[in-house]
Amino acid sequence: MDSKVRELLNDQINKELYSAYLYLDFSNYFEERSLDGFANWYYIQAQEERDHAMLFYRYLQNNSEKVTLDAIAKPDVELTDDLTVLKAGLKHEKYVTSLINDIYAAAYDVRDFRTMQFLDWFVKEQGEEETNANDLIDKMELFGSDPKGLYLLNSELAGRVYSAPSLVL
Ligand code: FEO
Repeated sequence: MDSKVRELLNDQINKELYSAYLYLDFSNYFEERSLDGFANWYYIQAQEERDHAMLFYRYLQNNSEKVTLDAIAKPDVELTDDLTVLKAGLKHEKYVTSLINDIYAAAYDVRDFRTMQFLDWFVKEQGEEETNANDLIDKMELFGSDPKGLYLLNSELAGRVYSAPSLVL
């Protein structure tokens, strides 16, 4: 495997684990606000991010490439109010999309079709993640300022259940 592609794939393990850590911080914020549905939504999001990290980890190992684990940074979003947290989630997902695109571009440059095929799942997943984050912001802006609306939205988010990623390595 090309060294730059390997390095970017390895870095992505750390970025995905950071994402898990960030969303766990969001979940904790909403738990403290007694919004258990929002807390559940981000708790499951954190689980999905950990799954993403494991997919990069396994992909490198399956290709006999070295994995190096780095320190995970402290979550760096100021949790000032609900909407700020939701918007930070969307901003973070857009950043992750840019990282996936960077790895894809590096793989494309060296005709690493196997890595491109592996990344196809993540390209699609990022589209869904951005849509989900956007939907949350839209709903919060529409209903969040009304206590009854917030209660119903919280109840809806409490129904999110974890499902393992559809990509299996
Ligand atoms: Fe693993 Fe939310 O991107």
